[in-house]
Amino acid sequence: MNTPLTLLNELTPEVFLTEYWQKKPLLIRQAVPNFKGFLTPNELAGLACEEDVQSRIVKKIDDNWHLTHGPFDELSLTALPEKDWTLLVQAVNHHLPEAAELLSQFNFIPHARLDDLMVSYAITGGSVGPHIDSYDVFLLQGSGKRRWKINAHTDLTLIDGLPLRILENFKAEQEWVLEAGDMLYLPPNIAHHGVSEDDDCMTYSIGFRVPKKQEVIEAFLEHLQDTIQTDGLYEDADLRCQQHPAEISDVMIAKVGAMLQKITWDKNTVRDFLGRSLTEPRPDVFFEPISTEAAGEVSIDDFAQLLAKHILFLDLKSQLLFYGSHFYINGEPLLVPEDIESPVRELADTRTLNTQVLHDTQRLMLAKTFHTALLAGYITIQ
Ligand code: SIN
Ligand code: CO
Repeated sequence: MNTPLTLLNELTPEVFLTEYWQKKPLLIRQAVPNFKGFLTPNELAGLACEEDVQSRIVKKIDDNWHLTHGPFDELSLTALPEKDWTLLVQAVNHHLPEAAELLSQFNFIPHARLDDLMVSYAITGGSVGPHIDSYDVFLLQGSGKRRWKINAHTDLTLIDGLPLRILENFKAEQEWVLEAGDMLYLPPNIAHHGVSEDDDCMTYSIGFRVPKKQEVIEAFLEHLQDTIQTDGLYEDADLRCQQHPAEISDVMIAKVGAMLQKITWDKNTVRDFLGRSLTEPRPDVFFEPISTEAAGEVSIDDFAQLLAKHILFLDLKSQLLFYGSHFYINGEPLLVPEDIESPVRELADTRTLNTQVLHDTQRLMLAKTFHTALLAGYITIQ
């Protein structure tokens, strides 16, 4: 945390967090020197044609904005106009190890805040329009050039009736042209507009989610609803006659109020809520379980032996988080014996674990702990 990073304009992560994170934009020239990206436009288009990849195209034709969602087919992609469109692919880190590798450079921000790596490809004039996001985002330029205009004090009125949230009265306060390896950090609610300056513009957006308080509270109440257990029935053995049979009585309001006041939660409830919800896969994420045949052949003992010769990896789509000795993987708690807590924390932090350097007993414990996860495709060995 105290080492200055090229990625952060030679600031230490600590200084970046104190002075910029959630506070003000930061332009970093050559944040990733020699970065050209790891996807060609064709490869990105290939991803956008796959069923399990979330993608969209934003086009502007004669001042009208159009949005189409993938998966696309080759034909529709080759039939795109000659200017003013962008193809955007979400969660590229779920599909490419190079993307996960890039995200690991942002490990100075907790995984619990990470959303995904989105990659966009735009030809000249391509843009998604001026907008604000509920994200902290690092916009890293791959190939080509993009002109970014930003405004921290803009009018937030949206153009009516569009399938996209586009600001009606955006005016730039500051602007820069970003080239390969340059990066712009934007906190949430900074209006921004990035327009491609050539036919080769690829932008890598490393996004950190900023949920609305309302969403967090609603999700927590849902969690409580699933976990709460109360016995007994509503009691009114003391019921008295009332003048209006249609009136809800004060007594009833008081009784139910007292009942509701008994709903309690503590730090463990909040931890469990966060562990489950932050690791819950998006609805469009599917894992590939090991085939039944292969599963039959991988017993816990076999798995332990494989760990002696291989390295354990989290699947690109998996999320493993922990609080102390409480672990969560893909929406579920994972019981981890004390003796292997430390290597499992390493797996969570780095998404990989060299199991060859562990003791036989630890490997056996790991095999027991992760056997179901292995069969479900949550982890892999290589
Ligand atoms: C883009 O890559 O075109 C859009 C990224 C953003 O504005 O958040
Ligand atoms: Co944006």
